[in-house]
Amino acid sequence: MRKILVIYYSRSGNTEKMAKAVAEGAKSNPNITVDLSYHIEAEDLANYDAIIVGSPTYHTQMPIDFKNLFEEASAKRINLKDKIGSAFGSYGWSGEAPQAVIEILKKLGFQVIEPPIRAKYSPDQKALDECADLGKKVARQLSDKQ
Ligand SMILES: Cc1cc2nc3c(=O)[nH]c(=O)nc-3n(C[C@H](O)[C@H](O)[C@H](O)COP(=O)(O)O)c2cc1C
Repeated sequence: MRKILVIYYSRSGNTEKMAKAVAEGAKSNPNITVDLSYHIEAEDLANYDAIIVGSPTYHTQMPIDFKNLFEEASAKRINLKDKIGSAFGSYGWSGEAPQAVIEILKKLGFQVIEPPIRAKYSPDQKALDECADLGKKVARQLSDKQ
């Protein structure tokens, strides 16, 4: 069974709503296992076929935990090549973080799905639908690979 990780950080719950929608979309595919989590050890990233990262923007940055996670994965030479990756996140005004995540995923060798999905503050239904569609799309791509 192919596995998707939806990993997110969320201080006030907005990116969390998006993460749940992404995970629900992916889970609608019966061939796929989906884990939704806010923490993972770098070594465990290797267990997944796709990793979708939910990152709000704080002080123009992604959360330091994500930076550390990907730096550790790189330093430990954890092989993430050709996994599917994407990003999403809530923001207030500048919203740089999801694209910054995408750039890191590319450097790590992921096949990324762009553009990342962004929602201003609390995601509206349109944004949640886009998140569910992202989950479905990633799941479909993994099913097609089998
Ligand atoms: C201290 C602080 C700094 C922030 N900095 C930014 C920023 O640089 N750019 C931006 O677009 N939004 C910024 N925001 C807005 C958050 O990204 C926004 O509230 C978002 O919905 C938070 O998502 P979350 O509920 O998933 O934590 C900031 C919010 C706070 C409280």
